[in-house]
Amino acid sequence: MFDDFVRFVRELYSTSDFIPLHRPYFIGNEKQYLLDTIDSTYVSSVGAYVDEFEQKIADFTGAKYAIATVNGTAALHVALKLAGVEAGDEVITQSLTFIATCNAIRYCGAKPVFVDVDRASLGLSPESLGNFLDENAELRDDGLCWNKKSGRIIRACVPMHTFGFPARLTELNNICARYNINLVEDAAESLGSLYKGHHTGKIGLVSALSFNGNKIITTGGGGMILTDDEAIANHARHITTTAKLSHPWFYEHDETAFNYRLPNLNAALGVAQIESLPDFIDNKRQVAVQYQEWGEGHGVDFTKEPPGARANYWLNVLITKDKGQRDAMLEFTNANGVMTRPAWTPMHKLIMNRECVKSELTNTEWLFERLVNVPSSVVLNAG
Ligand SMILES: Cc1ncc(COP(=O)(O)O)c(C=O)c1O
Repeated sequence: MFDDFVRFVRELYSTSDFIPLHRPYFIGNEKQYLLDTIDSTYVSSVGAYVDEFEQKIADFTGAKYAIATVNGTAALHVALKLAGVEAGDEVITQSLTFIATCNAIRYCGAKPVFVDVDRASLGLSPESLGNFLDENAELRDDGLCWNKKSGRIIRACVPMHTFGFPARLTELNNICARYNINLVEDAAESLGSLYKGHHTGKIGLVSALSFNGNKIITTGGGGMILTDDEAIANHARHITTTAKLSHPWFYEHDETAFNYRLPNLNAALGVAQIESLPDFIDNKRQVAVQYQEWGEGHGVDFTKEPPGARANYWLNVLITKDKGQRDAMLEFTNANGVMTRPAWTPMHKLIMNRECVKSELTNTEWLFERLVNVPSSVVLNAG
C-alpha cells in the first residue's frame, strides 16, 4: 500500500522531486504589490495594503471587523484577552491542537483545560464539552462559570478547526452560551471553511486566523483577529498598536500593550494571495476528492467533511489502522521523498501541561495513534 501511495502522490503532483506537505504559490500580483510597497516606503505597520487586506478578509469571511496582526499566535493572544481571559482563569480547549493554541492561553496567565475531539470533525467535541461542564462547572450569582473542583473561573472555550475541518460550532456555541463562557475560535487553519453556511471564525465572539507560510494563503508571517463586536474591534486595533493615543506628534499610551500589527509589506503579499484564494480552495477540494477516490480503491480511510461542514482541506488526513501502520507509513513515505507527518503530540502529554485539568481523551489518543497528514498543496493546472 505505501508503495502505491507514493506512486499516486507523485502522479498527482507530476514530480519525482521531494513533495512537501504544503507549499505556497505566488502566481498572481505578489511581486507587483511588494514593489509598490517598497516604492511607497510604507513598508511597516501603517499603509494602504494593511487596510485593504483587512477589508478583503472581512468581506471574504463575513466578519464585521478584521484586524491584522504579525502572526496567528498574536491574534489568538489578543482575542483571548479581549474575551476577558485573565491570570488564574481556566480556558477549555482541545488537546489535539498545535502548541500555539496553548501558548496563547498561557500568555494570558490562564490555564488550559483539555476536553476531547470528535473523530469525524477532528474538532472540539460538544459532547465532551457538555459532559465536562455538567460534571465540573456551575454558574454562580456573579454570572460567571466556576469550576467547582479547581475553584477557578472558566472564562473561554477555544475550539480549533483541525487541518481545516470545521468544528461543530453551533452546538459548541449553545453549550458555551448556557454556561456564560466566551467562544473564541482558533481558525488559524480554516480560512475558506464553513460550518452550516457560516465562515469559521464568524460564530465566536472573537477569532484568530494565521497566514504562516504553510497555510492556505500566506503573508510570510501574519494573522487576523475577526469579530462582529465594534468595541472589541476598536480595542484590538488599539492594543495591537502599543495603545498609542491619536495625536499629530505626542507619544501617549493609555495601557501596556503590544507591537502586534502586520507590516504593510506582508499585507501586500496577503492582498495578492487572497485574489487566488477561491481558486486555491476549489483546487484543494479536488485534491481531497482524488485522495478519497484512491483511498476507496485501496481500503484506506481519508477524513471527509462531515454533514453541515464545508472544509478547505488545508491538510488531508489519512487514518491508518493502528500506531504500527502509522509509524511504518511515516518511515516509508519520508524515506521516499513524500513528506507526511503525524498529528501534534497531544497537549496533555507535554511536560508543561501534565498537571492540567482534563476530561477523558479517548478520541484524541485514538487519532494521535492513527492520523497521518499527506501532501495537500494546490496542484497547478489540475483538471
Ligand atoms: C491551530 C493553530 N493555531 C495557531 C497557529 C499560530 O499561527 P502562527 O504560526 O501564525 O503564529 C497555528 C499555525 O501556525 C495553528 O495551526
